[in-house]
Formats: sequence, structure tokens, C-alpha cells
Amino acid sequence: MSLRLIVVLAVLTGATGSPSMTIRPGADPVDMTAHPNSVPEAVEETEIHGQQEVPVEEEAEEDVMATGELKPNHYPAQRAAKVVQHYLNTRYGSPVRLFGLHNVNSGNAEDVADSGRKYQLEISVQEIISNTTEKCSAEVLFPRGEEQRSPTVQASCEELLKVNTTAQEEALFQKYKMNQSLLSAQNLPDSYGHIAPDNKPLWHLGIVASSFVMLKESTENTLYNMAQVANITQLATENEQLKFDCHILLHEMVSQEIIHWKLQFTWSPPEGVKVLQMDQLPHCHHHEQPPKAN
Ligand SMILES: *[C@@H]1O[C@H](CO)[C@@H](O)[C@H](O)[C@H]1NC(C)=O
Ligand SMILES: *[C@@H]1O[C@H](CO)[C@@H](O)[C@H](O)[C@H]1NC(C)=O
Ligand SMILES: *[C@@H]1O[C@H](CO)[C@@H](O)[C@H](O)[C@H]1NC(C)=O
Ligand SMILES: *[C@@H]1O[C@H](CO)[C@@H](O)[C@H](O)[C@H]1NC(C)=O
Repeated sequence: MSLRLIVVLAVLTGATGSPSMTIRPGADPVDMTAHPNSVPEAVEETEIHGQQEVPVEEEAEEDVMATGELKPNHYPAQRAAKVVQHYLNTRYGSPVRLFGLHNVNSGNAEDVADSGRKYQLEISVQEIISNTTEKCSAEVLFPRGEEQRSPTVQASCEELLKVNTTAQEEALFQKYKMNQSLLSAQNLPDSYGHIAPDNKPLWHLGIVASSFVMLKESTENTLYNMAQVANITQLATENEQLKFDCHILLHEMVSQEIIHWKLQFTWSPPEGVKVLQMDQLPHCHHHEQPPKAN
């Protein structure tokens, strides 16, 4: 049994300041000083706002093929549950509506002949901005095959979707649309974990767009978190959409890698967020310096 220090980026708490997702390590003592080297150097994550560091017990035998009833706080259930968060963001996320995994209550995994592995989960999901939490049932199927395909997700969280954000979205859309200059921002959050209030909606848009990547890239062996919007730039559009280029940093917590992606996406209140293009950028070395605020 090895203790491995991982960094839980409660990134979405940028909106509320309360921890929205934690992995509880069971009875293990929190001893961060004993494992200083396991914290990645690529980004000064200890300074990113709202995150927590907790050790997670990694049990090799449970790692990939856990079947039957799962321990809610261990990696297999957490990884699958995290995929539900990304799915909800891709379907329903907006600059004023963001979903976070609050808790895994129970989980079950089984092999499905020929098609892959299916996780059945009872989870609590939080809509971060309205601070509404709901228990949802969800099913995540990780397809099996030569080619890596996205997991398929079913989730019913009806209460969370009843929070009516139409008016806020319309107001924000008009504000952005009317502005003479195109919006842009860098380093959300900055290396002090700070995000200017005016940039919060852009940060939220970056998170929703990133969920498309994280949903697509997730497997049973990954646990993706959003680390930073390195930069986001509004592009001129003719139609009723806002369009953005965005450079994001994702933290894959199992490999401890920071992965860079470049995205182009649109947003409008009726259409939601749509990703037009996503490109993974060449692997960044662990010792690369993080982007710094000017
Ligand atoms: C969110 O709601 C919970 C439960 O209703 C409450 O305990 C908590 O303080 C709220 N957090 C914020 C930031 O309002
Ligand atoms: C949400 O609010 C808007 C007005 O702000 C209203 O027109 C719309 O019907 C509401 N939607 C739902 C589903 O209640
Ligand atoms: C327009 O954008 C600029 C630059 O981002 C910003 O400083 C200004 O406050 C915005 N104006 C409005 C009305 O939102
Ligand atoms: C965005 O951030 C990335 C990573 O720091 C950097 O390589 C890129 O040049 C930046 N792009 C713009 C347009 O600022």
C-alpha cells in the first residue's frame, strides 16, 4: 500500500470559495511533508485558489479492473464520477452554470460483454454558482476497443437544471456583445489563485469548454481536473454567437501531468457552449515554468 500525495484542484470553487470536490482518504493521516516530491512542478498549484491537498490511498489491485461494489472514496469510483461532472458541464454548463462533483455515495462496476465497462453511481452533484446540491444516479460506460473512444454517460439531475439562469446569461451575453473591444484575459487563476471578478465568467466558460476535452479524453485510468485558463481571447463574429480562442492547462492527477490544449468554442444562451476545435499541444516538460502574471 503506498500513499501518494495528490493535489485536488477544487477549481470550480473559484466561484464560491467552498470546497466542491474532495477525495477523502479514509483513515489515512494527512502527511504532506513526507511527500514533497510528488507535487508536480509544472504549475504552482499550491497557490491555485480553492484547492486542497489530500493523500489518496492507491491500491494497485483496485486500480483498473475494480468490479462489483466500489469504495466511494477510492480512485475507480471517483474517476467515473468525475466523468459525470464533465458530461453535465458539456450539456448544461454556461458562464453562470457550472457543475462539480460533490460526493460519491456509492458505486458499482461491471464488465459488459464486448462493449466495455459500466459504472453505476449514486453521486451528489453541485451547481457551483447557485450552490445547489442534488443526489443523482448516473451511469458511465467506458468503451472497450483498439481506438480510445469517449465514455458515454447518462445522468439525471433534474433539480439542478431547474435553476433558471436565462436572465443572467442573456445579460452577460448582451454585455459582451455590446462591448466595443474584444475581451481577453490571461492566467485564470493567476499564480496567487486570484481571478478578477470581471473575468469570472471567462474562467467559467474556459471550464465548460475544458470539460469537452476532459470528457473526450477520460478513461478508467485518468482523473482530469482543470488547472488554468492560460489565456482566452474573444474573436470577432458576425452571427449571434460569441467565439473564443482559449489555451488551457489540464491536470491529469494519476500521471501528475499538466496537459496543454488549445480550443476554439462558441457560446450563446440558446445554444450553450459548442467546441469547434480542440488540439492537444506538444507534451510539456515537467520542469517548464508556469505562465506568470505580468
Ligand atoms: C452552500 O450551501 C451549503 C448547504 O446549504 C451551506 O452550508 C454553505 O455554506 C453554502 N456555501 C456558500 C458558499 O454559500
Ligand atoms: C426562465 O426565466 C425566463 C425569464 O428570465 C423565462 O422567460 C423562462 O420561461 C424561464 N424558463 C423556465 C424553464 O422556467
Ligand atoms: C469592455 O471590455 C473592456 C476590456 O475588456 C472592459 O474594460 C470594459 O469594462 C468592458 N465594458 C463593458 C461595458 O463591459
Ligand atoms: C497562451 O498561453 C500559452 C501558455 O502559456 C502561450 O504559450 C501562448 O503563447 C499564449 N497565447 C496568447 C495568444 O497569449
